[in-house]
Amino acid sequence: MTPTPDHSFDIHPPLADRWSPRAYSHTHVLTKDDLGPCFEAARWSASSGNSQPWSFALGLRGDDTFAAILGSLAEGNAVWAQHASALVANIAQLTTAEGKSQSHAVYDLGQSVAHFSVQATVEGLVVHQMGGFDADQLGAALQLDPSHAVISVMTVGVIGDPAELPEKLREREALPRMRKPLSDVVTHGVRY
Ligand SMILES: Cc1cc2nc3c(=O)[nH]c(=O)nc-3n(C[C@H](O)[C@H](O)[C@H](O)COP(=O)(O)O)c2cc1C
Repeated sequence: MTPTPDHSFDIHPPLADRWSPRAYSHTHVLTKDDLGPCFEAARWSASSGNSQPWSFALGLRGDDTFAAILGSLAEGNAVWAQHASALVANIAQLTTAEGKSQSHAVYDLGQSVAHFSVQATVEGLVVHQMGGFDADQLGAALQLDPSHAVISVMTVGVIGDPAELPEKLREREALPRMRKPLSDVVTHGVRY
């Protein structure tokens, strides 16, 4: 059951429904076609100067890319992420071919991943982004050019049975989702 957060204002259902679970169905299978709309949504994100500094490595459970991403995860993430239908590495191009720094690349990638995660919610999928992984190890495994870096990784799949999670994670799965009040978010100018 998705722990329901409080909302000061109603928001679009896919935004309200998005959350980051750890209990994934280990029998659910995704294909690249299933994920096409999610990557298409990521592709149509805004970016600085339309630089589109994002790219993705998609691993479907059982393939080599999935194994490479899984192998780079911190233990606390691998324990649940291994059951997801897909693992994705989110890659930013930090410098141009001419060696110029793309200072907004990480911001742009994050926005693109946000598009992905909202479209995934529309598709009935769940996404859990992670920073707990070895970026150097994964970059090497993916043979990334030094101009590129893996900034985050994410699981994609459908909800599984939380009872199958280790006890600590099972408890965390049921915790209410919390946010700062809107009054602490819009901090200057007109306030809430
Ligand atoms: C950049 C980034 C890194 C994250 N790293 C981890 C992680 O390593 N492990 C984990 O379990 N969750 C991770 N999360 C998930 C956050 O904990 C989660 O998004 C946050 O608690 C809000 O919950 P919600 O996504 O369900 O709204 C990460 C999220 C982001 C955006």
